Amino acid sequence: MAREKINFNNLSLEIDEGIATVTIRRASKLNALNRDTVEDLRKAFQKVYYTSEIKGAIVTGEGTKAFVAGADIAELAQLDEVEAKRYSQNGQDVYAMLENCPKPVIAAVNGYALGGGCELALACHMRVAVESAKFGLPEVKLGTLPGFGGTQRLTQSIGKAKTLELIMTGDMLSAREALELGLVNHLVPTHEEMFNKTREILKKIASSGPLAIAMVIKSVNSVYSSYEAGYLKEASYFGQSAGTEDFHEGMRAFLEKRNPNFKGE
Ligand code: COA
Repeated sequence: MAREKINFNNLSLEIDEGIATVTIRRASKLNALNRDTVEDLRKAFQKVYYTSEIKGAIVTGEGTKAFVAGADIAELAQLDEVEAKRYSQNGQDVYAMLENCPKPVIAAVNGYALGGGCELALACHMRVAVESAKFGLPEVKLGTLPGFGGTQRLTQSIGKAKTLELIMTGDMLSAREALELGLVNHLVPTHEEMFNKTREILKKIASSGPLAIAMVIKSVNSVYSSYEAGYLKEASYFGQSAGTEDFHEGMRAFLEKRNPNFKGE
């Protein structure tokens, strides 16, 4: 198939040799996901689903500093309780599209994968990271919790104790630590090797029958289908957190570049 490039508002989709590369492009905000970008991601994956020439997809971020540094905090700061629950459910829906995509989806983690960015990488079927990448779910530092499936998928990926430690401390993991925990499939030294390795895996998968591959994805995902209620719980708590003073203090503090003063109310 000929090379094709589609530009969305904050994202591009390039198709080359049957592989779609979806690049989030908001480098000035470390590729933070605002609503427009989440909708771009939905549209891009609709294209991946329905274009028969596309055999697999790569999700990555523009530049070398950030994969995605989370949901856009300036937008989060505006949400009330009801809007925050909807916001969380909408993000969860789009990420579920990636997870349930019948074609393999690999995150090429080119830098910071924090909050919604770490959750985005977790929603992909595999992760290939550069050594400089960093992973974390720092939402508690903003007075909230992960809302795009992170409480569920991180637990599925690295187990309960490490998940609780990471989410409650808000600490970042180096790419090597993430590899040791099984969060990352492959670690590579450079961005070029990250794309080479990702394409190599996708090409290998494309040499097998696509129906069998789609069935593998469905079967493996079904291991976790009993966890579905957990996503609703996560969205409900995310909404509830937006009704607290701590949420707005946490978001304001980040935007004002100061430490938050949480009061537990
Ligand atoms: N939402 C909105 N804007 C963000 C953002 C986010 N999640 N992450 C980074 N940005 C913006 C910064 O506000 C800054 O914008 P400005 O230049 O207009 O001030 C720009 O991106 C660059 O970020 P900066 O913080 O200056 O870079 P840094 O190298 O000092 O720090 C991070 C990098 C990733 C450690 C830091 O940006 C960070 O902690 N980001 C938030 C991570 C987070 O909490 N994510 C979860 C959100 S729910």
